[in-house]
Amino acid sequence: MKFFIDTANLAQIKEAQDLGVLDGVTTNPSLMAKEGISGDTNVIAHYKAICDIVEGDVSAEVISTDFKGMVREGEALAELDEKIVVKIPMVKDGVKALKYFSDKGIKTNCTLIFSAGQALLAAKAGATYVSPFIGRLDDISTDGLGLIENIRVIYDNYGFETEILAASVRHPMHIIECAQIGADVMTGPLSAIEALLKHPLTDIGLAKFLADHAKANS
Ligand code: G3P
Repeated sequence: MKFFIDTANLAQIKEAQDLGVLDGVTTNPSLMAKEGISGDTNVIAHYKAICDIVEGDVSAEVISTDFKGMVREGEALAELDEKIVVKIPMVKDGVKALKYFSDKGIKTNCTLIFSAGQALLAAKAGATYVSPFIGRLDDISTDGLGLIENIRVIYDNYGFETEILAASVRHPMHIIECAQIGADVMTGPLSAIEALLKHPLTDIGLAKFLADHAKANS
């Protein structure tokens, strides 16, 4: 299972990279705005800075919603670095753009996926990744993890190579359950990744080991 971090914050990306378990980064326009990144030149520079930190795929989202605009933006983004994955929203022209980029061998991530039908369409169009937003479905009392299960079944039925990228992950149980279901990738905040390593019995056990060692060596 690949671990992506869902942020445009360079310090957090570096921290996750230094942990040694990071496989990539996902961003979106809201995450870029949160870091105060605006204007084409700054946005491009920021994507380059992210690519310099990580070794894996970096999703960079287009702002256009029409086919021509998505192609123009996506081609410019893809030229920045071979790690760039063009992130495209699930709209009609987005499906056409997924097919266009797939035919050109440019990696894509189809975002804002909230149904199995959308995921099926993205796979048919040749998306490299499909991003179901599980946290936002949970927010409206709908089963986000159930959607991951449904997509897994559909993709396995037909051998689709599109990778299921569980997005809008909010906490460690989302990650664990996505791993049990067989999501190929999860993207979440650093806090959710770091929460995986915590257990009170680990802390208690370590404190006792160190105390016993200190007593024996005093
Ligand atoms: O990758 C999509 C993700 O950024 C959405 O997360 O927490 O805003 O629902 P969230």
